[in-house]
Order: sequence, then structure tokens, then C-alpha cells
Amino acid sequence: MKKGFVFDLDGVITDTAKFHYIAWKNLAKKLGITINETFNETLKGISRMDSLDKILAYGQRENEFTTAEKEALAQKKNDEYVKLLADLSETDLLPGVHDFLVQAKERNIPCSIASASKNAPMILEKLGVLDFFGHIVDPETLKKGKPDPEIFVKAAESINVAPKDAIGFEDAQAGIEGIKAAGMYAVGISATETLKGADFQVTSMTELDIEQLINQ
Ligand code: G6P
Ligand code: MG
Repeated sequence: MKKGFVFDLDGVITDTAKFHYIAWKNLAKKLGITINETFNETLKGISRMDSLDKILAYGQRENEFTTAEKEALAQKKNDEYVKLLADLSETDLLPGVHDFLVQAKERNIPCSIASASKNAPMILEKLGVLDFFGHIVDPETLKKGKPDPEIFVKAAESINVAPKDAIGFEDAQAGIEGIKAAGMYAVGISATETLKGADFQVTSMTELDIEQLINQ
């Protein structure tokens, strides 16, 4: 029986992926780089700085900026992203998420967040679900980002659950790989992508049966 749940945030709890995309697209445009949705898929689950590096490499401008300049560009992207989140509220939870969290709470199954986003606590607060999570891994404490398993192992251990007893929920390929490398059961959530390596894939959390899941 599974004993804990580890959730990615962007694309699993709420659809902030679209706002990341808008903010990156606008920043890239100012740099003369055009990104499309297919390229954007490769940014999901990837940290802010690594995303910027990928965009610069995509536009063949990777050697043109100092670290300080790149930090300023990443800050600019984040300023726009945070502005786009201004009106975020409970209504922006993805379908089935609130119900699932309530059911987990009723069964005393602890939940934690494994997101590369430094904005995670603020976003969860705006969505009104902060209290459902026993821990949010601080991405600043990580040596490596997804697809490395580190964030998922930390998230499971933070709620006192061994990775083999935990279920991870992800919308990104890098995340599914990290969950599997951590030795956890991986639930992929995506209506558009086939997530390779997921133990189970759904298009939305409304399709999940919590009893069936924990009795794996
Ligand atoms: C998540 C998203 C990525 C984002 C990263 C960092 O993993 O899927 O698209 O780049 O978080 O987010 P942040 O809010 O710290 O810029
Ligand atoms: Mg995600």
C-alpha cells in the first residue's frame, strides 16, 4: 500500500505553464529568438536559469551574456510571470485536484510538493491549498534539477515516506524520469503528450481513483 503523495506544481495543480510560456516567449522575442509550443515542452520542469540557457542556446546566443546579465534577464521574465499570476485564485486549480487533496487528507495520506519553481509557496497560497501540503521542497537546496531524482527523494522523505512507498504526479517528461529514478510510482497527467515511462497516465486528475492508486 502506498503511503504518501508527491506533486509537481505547474501543470499538475494549476495551469501556470501557459504563463511561463507567455513570459519566456516575450523575453525571447526581445532577444530576437522565436520559441514555439513544441520547444516550450522542453522547458517544463526545468529551473528558471536552465530554461534561459536553453532558450539562448536555441537562438544560438549562448555565449553573448555574462552571468549578471543572464540573472537580469531571468528576473525580467519572472517579473512578467508574477504579474500574470496576479488574479490567480481557487478557481484556477486544475480539475479534480481539490477533491483529490481532500480525499488524501481524509485518509491521512501526507502530501508534499516537488517543484522547481521558487514561486511555489506564493502560488499554493493564492490557490488556497497551501495547508494540504506537509512540505514544499526549496529548489535552492538542490544540487541537480529534474530529471535527477533528488527533488522527489527529498519531497518523499520530508513527509516521512520512503520513495518506494510514494506516488509522484507529473506533467513533464523530465519529471516522470525523476520520479522513476527515485524508485517511486509515477502518475503522468497530460492531455497532449505521451509521458514515456509513466506507470499510469491520465488526462486529468478527475480520472484518478485514490483507493485503486494507494493499493498498488
Ligand atoms: C517549474 C516549471 C518550469 C519553471 C520552473 C521554475 O518546473 O515547469 O517551467 O521554469 O518551475 O519556476 P520559477 O517560478 O522558479 O521561475
Ligand atoms: Mg510541471
